[in-house]
Order: sequence, then C-alpha cells, then structure tokens
Amino acid sequence: MAETIDLKLHVWRQNGPNDAGRFEDYSEYAKGISTHASFLEMMDVVNDKLILAGKEPFAFDHDCREGICGTCGVVINGQPHGPQRATTTCQLHMRKFENGATIYVEPFRAKSFPVIKDLMVERASLDRIIQAGGYITVRAGSAVDANEMPIAKPIADEAMDAAACIGCGACVAACPNASASLFTAAKIAHLGLLPQGQAERSRRALDMVAQHDREEFGACSNHYECEAACPKQISVAFIARMNRDHLKAQLTYKEPTAKDGGAG
Ligand code: SF4
Ligand code: FES
Repeated sequence: MAETIDLKLHVWRQNGPNDAGRFEDYSEYAKGISTHASFLEMMDVVNDKLILAGKEPFAFDHDCREGICGTCGVVINGQPHGPQRATTTCQLHMRKFENGATIYVEPFRAKSFPVIKDLMVERASLDRIIQAGGYITVRAGSAVDANEMPIAKPIADEAMDAAACIGCGACVAACPNASASLFTAAKIAHLGLLPQGQAERSRRALDMVAQHDREEFGACSNHYECEAACPKQISVAFIARMNRDHLKAQLTYKEPTAKDGGAG
C-alpha cells in the first residue's frame, strides 16, 4: 500500500445554525496524506495547510481520539463515522481510502443537533435526556468491593453491552426520523438491567422517553439504520426493551409515598 494518497476532499462550511451552509473543495490541500493517519489527523493536516495559506480552518469536534468520548462524529460520504463498521471517526484510518478517492464530510444532521459551526453540532439534547433519569440515587462514596452484589453473568454482560454507548449521536444522524431511540434505550437499559437500577426503573423510563420527545427527536420506525451506524454496535433489541419498560410504567407506575412502606 502506498505511504501517501491524494484526496478529492469536500468539507461542509456553515457559520452557525441559521446559515444555509455549502460544501467547499479542499482537494489542493489534501494531497500527500499519510495512509497511517487517522481521519481526524488528515483533517488536522488540511487545516494546518489552510492556516499557512491564510484561510480559515474548518471546525470539527474531538476529544479523546480513542473511540471513547463520542464527540468526533461527522458524516463521511453519507455514513455517520464513515465506511468502516463499528468504528468512530477518530479510529478510522486513511488506509481505508483509495488514492484519488472523493470524500464529502458533513455534520450530523438532525433538528435536535443544531450546527454550531462547520462540522460541529450541539448535542446537549442527549445530555438533557441523561439528566431526566440516567442515574441511580444510591450512595456515591468510594467503590464497593467487587462481587459484593452477585449479578448473573448474562445480565452483567448485557448491561455492559448497553453501557458501551458513548453518546456520539450517530444513531440520530443515520435515522430517517432523527430518532435518538437507540441512545435513550441503551442508557435506560444499562441501569435497568442491574439491581442498583431497579428502584427508579419505571420513573426512569417515563422521564427519559418524555425528555427524548420534548427534544423533538423522531419516533423509532424500525429502519435499523441506527444499529448499522453505531460505532459500539448497540443492538436495537434495547429499543424493544425500552418500549416494554415504558409501556409497563405507563400502566402501573404510581409515585411512591412514605405510606407505601420502608423501614419506619
Ligand atoms: S447508541 Fe451507538 S450511535 Fe447512538 S449514541 Fe450510543 S454509541 Fe453513538
Ligand atoms: S474523539 Fe473521542 S470518540 Fe472520537
């Protein structure tokens, strides 16, 4: 494989949520790209060249560059996080592209993810879904000893699969309805599967789904594009689980009071 490749690179430029935006051609700055570079490193190289040429670099989000923080999502040739399955943009390497490849890079598109600038979108809507119920009200002191609370291995494994969600929003960008159902379902499931999460299980499902809808994410209509785009391979089975929890909570949940019992 060649050590370097030239790209026909088109990047979306947009000066904020109310600007119409447009693609700009940066092919002349995307020559001699190392095939060992990550996709974000390729964008760094192009931005350095733009700065040296006295032009404004394009804005994009990133933090860990290790596939764990969820901030680096962009749409590459129509696919959130690009063509490689189960891979975040920061973990995608330029060796996956041919010499002379045409690459279009654009932001995640959803009403609930307004563009801040160029490739950066505002994903605070996902944070607000977490704030609505993605927590447990237990003592938050030092970590308890391992295995203090016995949990069956298949349940621990399933909770861990759900907890792998990094909150990147690719599921939203991939969904024709811009639904955040896969994200919300993963966050509801990883707590709802474990004993520590039972006390608030119904309240959590009601509040997080309500916040999802308040944020104007669309409904899930079983396209499965979310699962295909997810860099952490979160299963749509969690959406079915969320729907069961939500339906049951709607039918049976009653706000607990002191009269309901307890130690007193
Ligand atoms: S479910 Fe997958 S695609 Fe959606 S936010 Fe979580 S990690 Fe990203
Ligand atoms: S920069 Fe953190 S997941 Fe890509």
